[in-house]
Amino acid sequence: KNNSKTRDEKLLAICELLNSSVSYYNWVGFYFANHETQTLHLGPYVGSPTDHTVIPFGKGICGQVAVSNSNFVVPDVSAQDNYIACSFTVKSEIVIPLFVNGQNIGQIDIDSHIIDPFTAEDERFLEFVNQEVAKLY
Ligand code: SME
Repeated sequence: KNNSKTRDEKLLAICELLNSSVSYYNWVGFYFANHETQTLHLGPYVGSPTDHTVIPFGKGICGQVAVSNSNFVVPDVSAQDNYIACSFTVKSEIVIPLFVNGQNIGQIDIDSHIIDPFTAEDERFLEFVNQEVAKLY
């Protein structure tokens, strides 16, 4: 069994698999919390490069999930006040917190180019993905 990949390489492979497997998962990335500075930091991702590599807790969809500890499904980003636009091609977003030993250490963030693609099935699936990711910690 090959365990030689680093954790970031594994996270990137997960992003690549999700992006290539689900047609409406157009940007897939992980953000990680720094609880000292109350900021999220971009980790491995696939998709267009984003200027938003550091996001304060509370800001945007990602920053809100850092404080709410809850899934956030946005069917139409244009209807959100507290939203950080990365690209005009993005129409919807889903953010699922990542818990390790009960602590919210970050999140998986997925953007879509279509409106309202995310279902409860995506939420359950991505919760499962994050449970698997938590085992890397
Ligand atoms: N749209 C996010 C910012 C991160 S980008 O989607 C990669 C937000 O509002 O938090």
